[in-house]
Amino acid sequence: MKKTLYLFLLFATKMLVAQNANIRIIPEPVKLTVQKGIFTITPKTALVVSDKGDLHAANFFNQYLKKYYHFQLQIKEHPTPGSITIHTKKFIKAPNNPEFYSFQSKPSGIDISGNSYAGSFYGIQTLIQLLPVNATANQLNIAAVNIEDQPRFTYRGMHLDVGRHFFSVDFIKEYIDLIALYKMNTFHWHLTEDQGWRIEIKQYPKLTSVGAYRNGTIIGHAPGTANDGLKYGDYYTQEQIKEVVQYAADRFITVIPEIEMPGHASAAIAAYPELSCFPDKNTPTPKNKNLWSGDTTGKQVQQSWGVFDDVFCPSDYTFHFLENVLDEIMELFPSKYIHIGGDECPKNYWKASPFCQQLMKEKGIKDEHELQSYFIQRIEKYINSKGRQIIGWDEILEGGLAPNATVMSWRGEKGGIEAAQQKHNVIMTPGAWCYFDHSPNKQEDSLTIGGYTPVQKVYSYEPVPKELSADEAKYVLGAQGNVWTEYMQYPTKVEYMILPRMSALSEVLWSPANKKNWNNFENKLIKDTKRYQLWQVHFNEKWNQNANSSN
Ligand code: ACM
Repeated sequence: MKKTLYLFLLFATKMLVAQNANIRIIPEPVKLTVQKGIFTITPKTALVVSDKGDLHAANFFNQYLKKYYHFQLQIKEHPTPGSITIHTKKFIKAPNNPEFYSFQSKPSGIDISGNSYAGSFYGIQTLIQLLPVNATANQLNIAAVNIEDQPRFTYRGMHLDVGRHFFSVDFIKEYIDLIALYKMNTFHWHLTEDQGWRIEIKQYPKLTSVGAYRNGTIIGHAPGTANDGLKYGDYYTQEQIKEVVQYAADRFITVIPEIEMPGHASAAIAAYPELSCFPDKNTPTPKNKNLWSGDTTGKQVQQSWGVFDDVFCPSDYTFHFLENVLDEIMELFPSKYIHIGGDECPKNYWKASPFCQQLMKEKGIKDEHELQSYFIQRIEKYINSKGRQIIGWDEILEGGLAPNATVMSWRGEKGGIEAAQQKHNVIMTPGAWCYFDHSPNKQEDSLTIGGYTPVQKVYSYEPVPKELSADEAKYVLGAQGNVWTEYMQYPTKVEYMILPRMSALSEVLWSPANKKNWNNFENKLIKDTKRYQLWQVHFNEKWNQNANSSN
């Protein structure tokens, strides 16, 4: 009898452990309690949705099931026993955290209830994380749990540079799906660069017919060892942009477009040389002729990586151009924020330009940093007049911050600290933690920009700098992973560079700081990487070889 009881207890414990082993949710929920039993999803399980707004979440789940488990569920309007029910609360007064959801799975069914449609959508992401990774039959066992969950930060972003290398709409959608699966909510789309202008602007067709193409690309690490001599380029039509914005919105992701100014403007200048302070001056090309392909006269789209002197001239011609471009951008992107760049703008051309020097004299502008500030403030005024806000890289602090600007802190945390102290909103993207173009491994086999940012380092990030008071900390909206693609030519490389670092960042941004625990996370990542295999995405398989060698 005793032995039977012992065996039973052993069995029960094993079952519980096995069940718990399946409860590895990234990002870690705020409150999770394990209950007894399981719920089994089969093709007969109904998905109950009584409110059209919840169809986005239901459809996302069905698409996921279809893609990875080869069946989907019938969507029903009225409650039925043994179903998955999605229900978004309706409030007369806005709740404290609109992204909150509760999740309850028990043998008789699953209930997901969000404070908003986004909240319910996050409940679905939690359900996805509870699905077995290796499904062999149409029987998906979900552990019984009670979860109450909400994000720590309102801005949870991923960036992608499509200027250095272009990525298809299909890949952009895959990228957005990944963002959604980790309960992140912002896609920062870096659309214009020295090496290519990537968005159709109807009033300025040469931006894409000329600016979207370069005559070659350097080979190897900048400045390069040679040039491949291949014409390279592409761009998104406005129809494609609308499609992506809608696709993201269906996943509760805001797309923030970035139109770079006044620097990183070579491609626009190649299309419309009048945007330069020196329209007749040839684009300087490398002394080593092997590094350049094609014409060396006139204005050229850049073929190497770096920072270039020929930037937008702060002339009426340029402002008129930018306002027209921004009109089309604001029509395409409903986001509250428009990112206007502002980083890495050398001042050499402005210093040499009689026009700029005269303008500075007239306006009482004391140096070229202030001239950049004048530039950004003028653009901010225009964007504000259309009811939108600007985000700029932290260089926009130099020479005086535009009155309503949000600062993206990339050169460390200093810019973010200063901006928050000046009562400006801040998004943290400091290179040491948030630059996913850095090598993910100490011994990196692939070509990258350099650096070393293993997943553990990303996980260790605390977005609120300790220098800030509790009051100032409120200006930190969140953080973002930046993906600059000089050394990422193909989607597979982007996947490799973001996974699993993006999983780590999602937990930094969502979970309460006191819930963060590297050892737990490491265990969860082992399952997460199995999920990557299910998705057939590339990832850094050596992620845990570095685990104890960072910091
Ligand atoms: C940047 O990395 N230049 C913002």
